[in-house]
Amino acid sequence: MNQFTSVNDVEDIGQLVKDALALKSNPYADQQLGKNRTLGLVFLNPSLRTRLSTQKAAINLGMSVMVMNMDKEGWALETEDGVVMNGTTVEHIREAAAVMGQYCDILGLRSFPKLVNREEDYNEDFFNKFIKYCGVPVVSLESATRHPLQSLADLVTIKETWEGTTKPKVVLAWAPHIKALPQAVPNSFAEWMCKAQQEDMLDFTIVQPEGYELSEDFTPGAHITHNLQEALEDADYIYVKNWSSYKEYGKILPYPEGWMLNNELLKGTNDAKVMHCLPVRRDLELSSEVLDGPNSLVIHEAGNRLWAAQAVLKGLLQKLS
Ligand code: CP
Repeated sequence: MNQFTSVNDVEDIGQLVKDALALKSNPYADQQLGKNRTLGLVFLNPSLRTRLSTQKAAINLGMSVMVMNMDKEGWALETEDGVVMNGTTVEHIREAAAVMGQYCDILGLRSFPKLVNREEDYNEDFFNKFIKYCGVPVVSLESATRHPLQSLADLVTIKETWEGTTKPKVVLAWAPHIKALPQAVPNSFAEWMCKAQQEDMLDFTIVQPEGYELSEDFTPGAHITHNLQEALEDADYIYVKNWSSYKEYGKILPYPEGWMLNNELLKGTNDAKVMHCLPVRRDLELSSEVLDGPNSLVIHEAGNRLWAAQAVLKGLLQKLS
């Protein structure tokens, strides 16, 4: 693994899951690996879990960590080439990324989409330029279209908690929200689950109201439906998440009532475990009764963000040494 920006950077997802679970059992075995190595975490958007879990992962590996809240503390960045910088931007990404690469052995970057121009967001222009100019391995802390550290933690959580004798049925279920949210988490979850399905680890279904279909680039082989009851039938895991429309890009479209998961809907499942990446808006996206109930895995799942990040950083450090 030379970088970690999508499932496509990972040679063997099953092995990476095993690596993460091994680190969970023995977190401090690799303290020499990160000695005299520095991780820089660059945030253009807020974060709780990604920031703290990735910092802790680096500390467990013996690394030093620096955090740059670029949106609040950095210079306003220019990303276009060939422009005269006589407006509000102060520093070009060419210099900013290259300078951060001088101080860090590995860089993490979070940069959300603007949700205005689909092509611009899905081109990942900012992310790709950062990777190009920084000159060191990059870990995605969530880009415009993907959140692979979250998805790895999600797969770790499913593998760790599944006690059945056959493959689990995993369902990504759209949920209501009052704000237009990116597709990064569901895209990435779908991409990882489709890969896991190809490797016979699970069966994967996506359910959303009409108009909320994800880009087909992220859903190869997934069973896709608009029928929530049908999707939830026999489900072993339900991954609850809101996203805005990909088709009518960034819009909140009208949807029928009844899409918030509650105990009544859970009755139609195989006593499904419920997952959410967090943060979650209680009783809007997901009912409090489910969040606080015995089927909720959300805190366990957030805890596994640490081991996912540690497995990824370990893999990158091994390539550096
Ligand atoms: N799930 C997740 O990425 O949380 P944060 O946005 O708080 O990092």
